[in-house]
Amino acid sequence: MKIRPTKGLTFEDVLLIPRRSAIASRSDVETTTRLTDRIRLKIPVVSANMDTVTEAGMAIAMAKNGGIGIIHRFMSIENHVRQIQRVKRAQGFVVENPYTIDINASADQARHMMTHHDVGGLVVVDESGKVAGIITQRDLSLAAPALATVKQTMTPAEKLVTAAPGISIDEARDILYQYRIEKLPVVDADRRLKGLITAQDVTRPENPRAALDAKGHLLVGAAIGVTRGEFERAAALLEAGADVLVLDIAHGHADHCIKMVVELRQRFPQAQIVAGNVASTDGARELAEAGANAIKVGIGPGSICTTRIVTGFGVPQLTAIIDSAEGIRQSGRNLPLIADGGIQKAGDMVKALAAGAETVMIGSMFAGTEESPGSPVIRDGQKVKVVRGMASLGATMGRRAAESGRDESAEDSEDWNKVVPEGVEAVVPYRGYVAEVLHQLVGGLRSGLSYGGAHNIKELQENAEFIEITPAGIKESGSHDVRRI
Ligand code: XMP
Repeated sequence: MKIRPTKGLTFEDVLLIPRRSAIASRSDVETTTRLTDRIRLKIPVVSANMDTVTEAGMAIAMAKNGGIGIIHRFMSIENHVRQIQRVKRAQGFVVENPYTIDINASADQARHMMTHHDVGGLVVVDESGKVAGIITQRDLSLAAPALATVKQTMTPAEKLVTAAPGISIDEARDILYQYRIEKLPVVDADRRLKGLITAQDVTRPENPRAALDAKGHLLVGAAIGVTRGEFERAAALLEAGADVLVLDIAHGHADHCIKMVVELRQRFPQAQIVAGNVASTDGARELAEAGANAIKVGIGPGSICTTRIVTGFGVPQLTAIIDSAEGIRQSGRNLPLIADGGIQKAGDMVKALAAGAETVMIGSMFAGTEESPGSPVIRDGQKVKVVRGMASLGATMGRRAAESGRDESAEDSEDWNKVVPEGVEAVVPYRGYVAEVLHQLVGGLRSGLSYGGAHNIKELQENAEFIEITPAGIKESGSHDVRRI
């Protein structure tokens, strides 16, 4: 047994000492950063892979604002793939895998498919998979009731305006205007479908804030587990366009996690893999050596986590970041660190970045936004949304029920008693759109960079000097001795 002589510190225990600054305006600073050694973001913010935080809607909003969302894994592979595809379709002027329907399908099937996928049209393909026409919601609503099949209702191939692969956005806009059409299938010489361009996509102004992949689509990540069955999920997610896979395991410094990183690296050499969670120098070093592209840090700092209470293990988050950054350095690999959990204020994020993180992962702060899964409810007269730890009783039982194909309520009390939760279920105030929360966070970061005399996050880290504070210092740091209105 040994006791480390230094104290473990977290965000509230310290402040950053202001530095001489050449920054005259908050617009003189740069917030771009690395998520992994290959992926760059415009702001250092990642939404957590929790089922009350990130599905496609949140991931779209995060990437449009320059960050990224990691879609949680507690759903079927098929649904997970659909979520990734929804994000990839949300921006970019060519939809790469447009929805198609068989020429022999009924008009009702087409209607159902458009509603299910929330799209305004489907490309029609024949028995050999070649483009046979297009059918839109407008066709279906205008067609006489007697026209009951796709074949009868669609615009057939001979009347269809198409484009060849490689068309530019300006050429596409001209064609759409010339023929007054809304949808332009991209078709190769063999009449195989290569994509779909919509009027909406070519007229939307480019968003300079968005975090995009090489093809102009929004970046998105997906979580995977560490069991053998997860290789199938990983392959499907990568195929669907996921830019990064995030290993979702509470104790990442474990043999089976290290092995998973090694095997993922072998099977998918090009994939970007985030490994974690760890909170120690050795943990970070070993995952970096195993081949990860970024290391995620945090054992128990999260707002809904009870791991430290239940197991006695954990490291206060600021110390965990500093120790893990040292582990990455020792590995000899120049990998970014993701600080996961415990961020409640912009200042916490600035401290995490100054301590060595390049991004922060956020759960509960985003759970109350419009884009998180689920609807707001009223509790004690206040509009709130639910957030739950992924190791909470409810989340664990829900997962088991989903895996066994049984209804959650069918689990008997014996099952409930077997669970040892390491998280809680809670509500958080409804906070409107996530863009507004991000605006506050990034505004705080820009100010923080100027106090740190830093033009960017790297300089913030180089210049950072923390000072430990006392409970009196903590009290002084918030508003005090006034009545808040
Ligand atoms: P915040 O503080 O942003 O933290 O809400 C989000 C992170 O918390 C972790 N997480 C958990 N940790 N038990 C835990 O000990 C849980 O049930 C649990 N659920 C989520 C996770 O790392 C997330 O990103």
